Amino acid sequence: MEEKIALVTGGGTGIGAACCRSLSDAGFKVGIHYNSSKVKAEELAASLPNCFIIQGDVSTVEGIDSVYDVIKKDHNGQVDVLVNNAGIALDNPIFSANLDDFQKTMDINVRGTWYMIKRIARFMIRKKSGRIINISSVIGSVPNPTQSVYGMTKAAIDNLTKVAAIELAQYNILVNSVAPGFIDTDMTKKIPEELQKEIFKKIPLGRMGQPEEVGDVVKFLATSGTYITGSIIHVNGGMYG
Ligand SMILES: NC(=O)c1ccc[n+]([C@@H]2O[C@H](COP(=O)([O-])OP(=O)(O)OC[C@H]3O[C@@H](n4cnc5c(N)ncnc54)[C@H](OP(=O)(O)O)[C@@H]3O)[C@@H](O)[C@H]2O)c1
Repeated sequence: MEEKIALVTGGGTGIGAACCRSLSDAGFKVGIHYNSSKVKAEELAASLPNCFIIQGDVSTVEGIDSVYDVIKKDHNGQVDVLVNNAGIALDNPIFSANLDDFQKTMDINVRGTWYMIKRIARFMIRKKSGRIINISSVIGSVPNPTQSVYGMTKAAIDNLTKVAAIELAQYNILVNSVAPGFIDTDMTKKIPEELQKEIFKKIPLGRMGQPEEVGDVVKFLATSGTYITGSIIHVNGGMYG
């Protein structure tokens, strides 16, 4: 059987690492992309049977172009599944947020996701087959005070998912968002315990999700779900959806 390649951006940590593990379990050769977490990416790579690591800053055009070039040169221009997981959160009320943070969050979350699709979809179009899974957030659908910028970026990603699904359907490329709720990763560890308790009250299941619970859904969209495209799949313990 032909070997299939799954590329996961921000794959060295948190939800991205869980996606790498679940896609590896499903039999993919996994491209673990990282920007700064080299050691974590290497440790993860050492635990997976068939993978490679690839560096690149998704906030820059050059960073994404370099990922494209490595895939083209070293991996025969093949990506069967792209998981756009790299992203940062910004917690600041509108009146105290600064423009540099606004731009950085937009560059990573929005332009990074859009430009990664623009580059990598080329490989899938040639093959007339592929899956693209964008990790957005429940905050793209539910307004959350102090997260105006983050919420805007995630709503943008969900809209991008819907447009790309229509544009790429003719090439048999399925595009979906997975929108996690409150997941136990470094991103949420910073939240003070008292505030965490308040958040739990809004989650019918009464607990945080684990990265693996997102990774499971990504695996399903990568391997099954043949009639699902342009959808936002919520994974949030019942908070929304
Ligand atoms: N945790 C949650 O509750 C939650 C909820 C909803 C959505 N999400 C989304 O899930 C995704 C993963 O987040 P996480 O919770 O797993 O947190 P995380 O561990 O902080 O992961 C963020 C990842 O994004 C990568 N990244 C950040 N800036 C980058 C850049 N300039 N270029 C390339 N990669 C970059 C990081 O790579 P390096 O470390 O290598 O720099 C890191 O692996 C994010 O898109 C986040 O918005 C998380």
